[in-house]
Amino acid sequence: MSGPGTGERRLAGQSVVVLGGTAGIGLETARRAHEAGADLIVTARDPDRLSRVGRELGARTFAFDLNDADQLARFFTTLPGQVDHVLVSGAGPRYLPFAELDIGTIRHGVERIVLSVQIAQLAKAALRPTGSLLLIGGTGGRRPSAGPLISAVTAALPALVRSLALELAPARVNLIAPGFVDTPLSATLLGDGLDERREQLRATLPIQRVVGPADVAALAVDLMTNTAVTGATFDIDGGQQLVEG
Ligand SMILES: NC(=O)c1ccc[n+]([C@@H]2O[C@H](COP(=O)([O-])OP(=O)(O)OC[C@H]3O[C@@H](n4cnc5c(N)ncnc54)[C@H](OP(=O)(O)O)[C@@H]3O)[C@@H](O)[C@H]2O)c1
Repeated sequence: MSGPGTGERRLAGQSVVVLGGTAGIGLETARRAHEAGADLIVTARDPDRLSRVGRELGARTFAFDLNDADQLARFFTTLPGQVDHVLVSGAGPRYLPFAELDIGTIRHGVERIVLSVQIAQLAKAALRPTGSLLLIGGTGGRRPSAGPLISAVTAALPALVRSLALELAPARVNLIAPGFVDTPLSATLLGDGLDERREQLRATLPIQRVVGPADVAALAVDLMTNTAVTGATFDIDGGQQLVEG
């Protein structure tokens, strides 16, 4: 027996837009939302991967770069009426040493905030009043050693989400803050060091296992369906920030 918002088909009749939904956290959230009965709209840049995911999940798909403000705005105009939930996965900030930051990478880092505000403005018109906007930040940038740019952007996102929750009300706005998640992005960033990193996390994390994209997806769908939660930041890092300096 399951109550409202907890049943297996708890997104039945609802539409979910996943911006950056062909890999990692976005893909697993799209899969979980599909299992929960949602109609899906999935975006990413690579059209081949996008059409594979479209076929797998019966999703409508749109190929464009989230960092292109015009294409992003155009995408929102093509939506078939109001939607229920928007998840922004997709492009994240790059961890670069302070000395290696040039003006382009600094601007790109700050763009994360610009993009989030632009999406929130577009989502305000696109979301049903009962809907939600979900952003993804991270816990890694809370360490000052992550560098000034990532630290500043990471600190800004919870404040941004609290304020957006008022601007978009009664629709809800929340932030998921993962630590290490075992996704294609992590594999690309770590290269040959991936297995060693997984081992290290299994040995040191309080949960004694590595957090995967399905863990984050489960939280994302919970936040879409729990209509009491807004303006909140949810850490999901297996306790990583409790044990790492
Ligand atoms: N993995 C982690 O450990 C971790 C930790 C904390 C936070 N995060 C954040 O979580 C989010 C998702 O990360 P992930 O690990 O799931 O990444 P991922 O495995 O690389 O998947 C990213 C998805 O977004 C799409 N995408 C990437 N850049 C895009 C762009 N500019 N425009 C449109 N679509 C884009 C990708 O497809 P295309 O390449 O075809 O566009 C893919 O579908 C990111 O914001 C990341 O910073 C990840």
